Amino acid sequence: MNNFEFKNPTKIIFGKGKIANLSKEIPANAKILLLYGGGSIKSNGVYEQVKKALSSFDVVEFGGIPANPEYAVLMEALKVIKSEKITFLLAVGGGSVIDGTKFLSAATEYEGETPWDLLTSGKPSLKGMPFGTILTLPATGSEMNSGYVITRKETKEKLASGGPALFPLFSILDPQVISSIPQIQIANGLVDAFTHVMEQYMTYPANGLLQDRFAESILQTLVEIAPAILKNPSDYNAASNFMWSCTMALNGLIGEGVPGDWAVHMMGHELTAMFGIDHARTLAIIAPSHYRYNIETKKEKLAQYAERVWGVTNGTIEEKAKAGIDKTEEFFHSVGIKTKLSEYTAEFAGTAEIVSKRFTDRGWMGLGEHQKLAPADAAKIVEMSY
Ligand code: NZQ
Ligand code: ZN
Repeated sequence: MNNFEFKNPTKIIFGKGKIANLSKEIPANAKILLLYGGGSIKSNGVYEQVKKALSSFDVVEFGGIPANPEYAVLMEALKVIKSEKITFLLAVGGGSVIDGTKFLSAATEYEGETPWDLLTSGKPSLKGMPFGTILTLPATGSEMNSGYVITRKETKEKLASGGPALFPLFSILDPQVISSIPQIQIANGLVDAFTHVMEQYMTYPANGLLQDRFAESILQTLVEIAPAILKNPSDYNAASNFMWSCTMALNGLIGEGVPGDWAVHMMGHELTAMFGIDHARTLAIIAPSHYRYNIETKKEKLAQYAERVWGVTNGTIEEKAKAGIDKTEEFFHSVGIKTKLSEYTAEFAGTAEIVSKRFTDRGWMGLGEHQKLAPADAAKIVEMSY
């Protein structure tokens, strides 16, 4: 096992009716900016619950943060933060609203020329305005981590950043919010969380026995509850397990002391930037090809995964590894997610070359757990996924 330091300061407030506890978590004299997305919170009752809980506070609102949070929209929110002298940010939404709020938290403290530099400089944010979240869509884990991803339409870019100052102060997780989520977003959440675990687990044996079993147990739980939550998003037992699994998949714990990959996300982000494909779907497109392409270096873990998560007991290591990849792809199909780029866009020709050029231009010469996945390899993987 590798050395590590682990600190996660986010307070999780989990369960039925917990949004009512909100006021206890925010400093009494705070001036709050309530940030939300396209309006789902206004039709499912979450907005009313939040407003009621905040009745004694001075609250300004900023709605309209789109899925794949857009830089230009967030820059408008930054103006409001400054003109209204906001002191506390409250994100009410899924990963997009929470990520946008993290960017704003960092941007309020940023003294350079343009806050876009936060995404390109590679420097972690060490200062930020305090913020909390009310999660409405389990998927990203953003409610309990310090990373964020911002999209910029103008340049067709989607870049990630983060830093120790960007953990939410608290996150309220009431699984009842899941009852209004459309099935396609629930499927996205299942696949995103599943892939977060795979990015931290599907590498090579590194003697992280506990980390492996944490990872496998999250994967098994997601597979187990997937049919129930897709059939009935109001099934509280399925919803609570779904929500907690998504948070645990990317709050830092399972990746400590072991190597990580993350190349699937890096390639996937390019497909969102180029075609606007939902984040989770880009992962379902890339992951099977990525594992097939890298089977030599990943076969031990793929075989272990096939055995422990999918019960594949027959065959050689190679055969089990292949079966593990097939099972993964079948799982994505079983929740209704297609795994080929050509099933999302007819304009896929040339994508591999563009991704490889962008990686080269950014100096991303070696991705993955061995830092050996070159832009030319990324091109081959993207091409395999057409
Ligand atoms: O905007 P509204 O109207 O709220 O509708 C949203 C949106 O259209 C809707 N929704 C959310 N909660 C709902 C609901 N509809 C009905 N009932 C509810 N309770 O769902 C749609 C998608 O929301 P979004 O926040 O975009 O989804 P998700 O949580 O999947 O977030 C995706 C973003 O997170 C980034 C992705 O790249 C993408 O930009 N990621 C962030 C990560 C992180 N910070 O750690 C890691 C991830 O790998 C990912 O990259
Ligand atoms: Zn993801």
